[in-house]
Order: sequence, then structure tokens, then C-alpha cells
Amino acid sequence: MCGIVGYIGKNDSIKPVIEGLSRLEYRGYDSAGISYKESSDIITLKKEGKLDNLKSEIKKHNINSKIAIGHTRWATHGEVNDVNAHPHQNELFAIVHNGIIENADRIKSELSSKYSYKSQTDTENFLNLLTSKYEKLNDVRSAVLETFKEIEGNSAFVVMCKLTNKLWAIKRSAPLVCGIDAATRDLYISSDPYALVGFANKIYFPQNEVLCECDPSKVNDEIQFFELDGSASHRYELQKKDLNLNVSEKGIYEHYMLKEIHEQPTLIKSLVDYYTTGEGLESLKSIDNKFKRVHIAACGTALHAGYLVKNFLEKENKVPVQIDFASEFRYRNPLLSSDELGVFISQSGETADTLACQELCSESKLKTLSIVNVEGSTLFRDCNYNLLIKAGVEIGVASTKAFTQQVLVGLILSKYLKNELNNDDFKNELSSLSSKVNEVLDRKDEIKQIANEIYNKNGFIFTGRGDHYPIALEGALKLKEIAYVHAEGYAAGELKHGPISLIDENMVNIALVTPDLFDKTFSNAQEVKARKGIMVIVGTENNEQLSNIADYYFGLDYSGLSSTKPVLTNVVLQLLSYYIAKLKGTDIDKPRNLAKSVTVE
Ligand code: M6R
Repeated sequence: MCGIVGYIGKNDSIKPVIEGLSRLEYRGYDSAGISYKESSDIITLKKEGKLDNLKSEIKKHNINSKIAIGHTRWATHGEVNDVNAHPHQNELFAIVHNGIIENADRIKSELSSKYSYKSQTDTENFLNLLTSKYEKLNDVRSAVLETFKEIEGNSAFVVMCKLTNKLWAIKRSAPLVCGIDAATRDLYISSDPYALVGFANKIYFPQNEVLCECDPSKVNDEIQFFELDGSASHRYELQKKDLNLNVSEKGIYEHYMLKEIHEQPTLIKSLVDYYTTGEGLESLKSIDNKFKRVHIAACGTALHAGYLVKNFLEKENKVPVQIDFASEFRYRNPLLSSDELGVFISQSGETADTLACQELCSESKLKTLSIVNVEGSTLFRDCNYNLLIKAGVEIGVASTKAFTQQVLVGLILSKYLKNELNNDDFKNELSSLSSKVNEVLDRKDEIKQIANEIYNKNGFIFTGRGDHYPIALEGALKLKEIAYVHAEGYAAGELKHGPISLIDENMVNIALVTPDLFDKTFSNAQEVKARKGIMVIVGTENNEQLSNIADYYFGLDYSGLSSTKPVLTNVVLQLLSYYIAKLKGTDIDKPRNLAKSVTVE
């Protein structure tokens, strides 16, 4: 979703801000803008569409500036256009904002007679309120604090003022970091530490409602923190060790998604080492395992991984598990008890609904555990225990490698709790999984061929049973997300309770017919075939029954795999979605309307 980058120092401010914004492009956005200070003027340039539009605009100006703030906007209030893009500026201030101001209408009704509104955004309310506070207080820090006190909802703001060479940043339940390059003393602010890699080598994570004031003139004390009452604050964390945030390049691949799919065999292997010998083992050992029940909450792909984690914990560990969409869990008044464990699965660790569930569990005195990719993310910092999925930076909006790693970390947790993590059978299974994923990647032309045959069909129903039901859901999500076609995932046994009425010669059924519950799933596939549906079967290899009814058949060798079969099947579906999307010509890495990290509810 929206991205923020700010710079203040001795050097050109435009370069790091634009570089930071390009690193945040993967999060999804629809316009971009920058405000910079030149002499004592603030100049704002902003453009609808891709960052390249803004870059072209910047090239028209001969800029000499040492202070800038930039923003990529994912529209919430007001349509996508230049005016609604951030930053928003008036005679005194320029500001950027991530999140939603929930009391925007009330502020506007109080201020609109005195201050002008140029955009349809909620953000301008902060700008006008800030101006009104400044007129009374004549001090920017106090004005920012007083303004923020009146803002309801979860947001992060960065403020630049025409009158001083400082930047201010403050947030409530929205990501925000600030950093310093210890050598040059240049200062940075961002909504994502990834934007600061290679620029700042000391990164601070302020807590909610702590103001960061960046002032390069304060030698050795350039970043200061303040509470809402103006007193000095110590509620921030300094990054303790290097964050695992290498900048990712596409390399030989046409898209990040394809590259990330190909990274999976290697990641699977190193995950085993990490959890059997490395730091990962220490994180498993830190978990107090005396919980009576588990609550899992997550969104989208991470939730699908959660369904498998639930299956593992219930089947293998006999622990009851409750699982919910994070957006539902937080409002359904779940029955929570302090002898239970809250498990939150997330690639970004910044998904607003998932964070709210973690908070809810913490308030109810549950211990909380994250299965998360981004070390240092809010979820990572807020949970009692963290199991990193070690997927590296995932740039494609469509989550692929993170799903695989989330499922495997769930399985690793389950094995650890059963004292079976070091069993050779388990290690061999993961090593075999890695090789089999490689084999699937080597057969990608077969998958491309199937995509060629079906990409222009009307609709797609993915079906599976048991551990393959979450894979049916995930396969359908991936396809609709990047190919913009209607796709649904169903438990195979549910088809006849309604959706089967959709089956005709234009409807594709991607049936996952695998060794588990084979007969049951096979008969569901026959029911579809009898109604002339187009049958794509992904599952057990070399099976005559399957080849007889399949229009297209992709067989998989599941030998040696037990709980990890669904992970292998899912790689086929990742590639199928990818090739269908490619044939449709969509923007695969940044599909329309989507954001990589969903920081509003
Ligand atoms: O960062 P998170 O894992 O918390 O994100 C959750 C979902 O927004 C995410 O998985 C989304 O569904 C993906 N774009 C799916 O590919």
C-alpha cells in the first residue's frame, strides 16, 4: 500500500527518496509524489500512475535540495489523480500520510470555512489542522503533537515545514522507521526499512504515538523522540542486528513472481538447516509449549497456509486449533483464554487486520507467535515468539515462496512439538520435496502448454480435499489475483451442494486428485466430467483412471512425501497462474488494485 520515504542531510535529497520509492513500488500504488525544499520554498511534484511519470516530471526541474519527502499512494479516499496524490502542501507545510483518518469528516466540518481543501483525500485534514495548531502555538513540534492527538484511526505522517530544516514523523499502528547513516550523518524516514537498505545503517523503530524529530544540525543527536505531551521519549527500538533485507533483482527472469517460484527448492533446503541447527532451533526452544488451544489468524495466502498449519497441529499434536480470517477474528468477540496461543501468519508482518488480532490476543494475556518473513516488522516485534520463514524479500504481489515457507515452518513447529524435528524421515522428506519442486520447474513447458489451451475460458473451479482443499483455495486466489479471471476454490465434496450448476463446456475444473482421499476426489472429478466441464487434473502420476477423464493431466511423483504433498502440488498451480496471466498480458508483479502489504483494514 502507500509508501513513505524522507531524507534530510548534506547531499542531494531527490536520489535517495526516488530510490526508496522505487523499492516500495512492489507494495502497490497508483500515484507518486515528492516535496522538496529549495532555499525557503517547498516545491511539490506529483503524478498519477507509475513512478516513471514522476521521474519524468522531476527531470524537467533543475533541483538543488537537501530535504525531501516522497510518497506512493494507494487510493482510499478520492479517486486516482494528480491532485489526490501525496504530498499535500500549503503555504507552510508539506505532508505525506499512510492510513486512514477516521474522523476526517468532523475535522473538515470544523475547518472548511477557514482553510481550503484542494483534494478529496482525508489527508488534507491533517494539513489544515496542523496549520491551525501552528497559528496558535507558533512551534512546529508542538503543533504536530497537538494535531496528531486529535487524529483518529491508524496512520503514519511525515511533516516538512517551510520555516525550518527538520522533518517530523509520527504513527499509530502503521509502519514507520527512521534511520541515520553513521558516517555521513544523513537522516532517513520510511514506512519500510527495505527502502533504507544501503542508506541508513542505524534504524530506529518508534512505538505508537512517539514523535521522531530529525534535525541534522544537532550533531550526534540528530534524531530525537517525544511523547504526545512533549516530554522526551525512550519508547523506540534501535535495530539490534543487521536486518535480512537484501535488495532483490529480477536477474534472468522476466518477472519477480517467476524468479520467486524458482527460489523455492533452495529456500526449502536452507529452512531445514536453519531450524535444525541454526538460530531457528533457538526460536523453537523459546516457545512455552504448554498451551491448551491455538488461535490462528491471517489474511489471503497466509490464511491458506494457516489452514495447513491447523491440520498439522490437530492431526500430529492433537491440539485444538481455531482459525479465522483476521478481519473477522478481530470483530467476532472470540473466546480467548490465557492458557492458549495466538499464531499469526504473515509475509510482511504489517497487515493491519493481522496486527489487530495479535493485539487482541495480547490484551487477553495469550502468548503470541508469528510465522513471518520480515524480521523487524511490527508483527515480529509485537509477538512473544517468532518463527521466521526465511523466504528473503518477496517482491511479486502474488505470494508464492512465502506460502511454501509458511506451510513448512508450521510443519516444523508441529514436528518440534512432537520431538520429531531431527528424525531422518522428516529431513529426507524435505530434501526430497526440494528435488521434486525442481523437477516441476524443469517441466514448466508442459504447464505453459496447458495454460495455452485454457487461458481464454470463462471460469475456473479449483477442487481438492483434505490438505489439498487449502491448495484449491490458494490456486484460485493466485489465478484471480494476477490473471483477472473468475476463479473459485472449493472442497471437492462441496461441489454438488451448489457450484456444480456452473459446470458446462466453458468451465474449467482444476481438480487436485492426489493419493490422499484419492477415490473420493476422483469420483468428484467424474461428476464434473459427466457435465462436460473441461478437466485439468493435477495429482497422482501415471494413473489410467485419471488420464481417461482428464482433458489435460499433470502427474506428480509424490513418493517419499507425506505432509508436504500439498506444497508440491501448489507449485504447479503457481506456474499455471503465471502462464495464464502472461497470456492475458496483465501486470503480473503488480496486479491492478492490489497492494503487497495491506496496512489499512
Ligand atoms: O503480508 P501478509 O502475508 O500478511 O499478506 C496477507 C495477504 O494480503 C496476502 O497473502 C495476499 O493475499 C497475497 N497478495 C496473495 O498472493
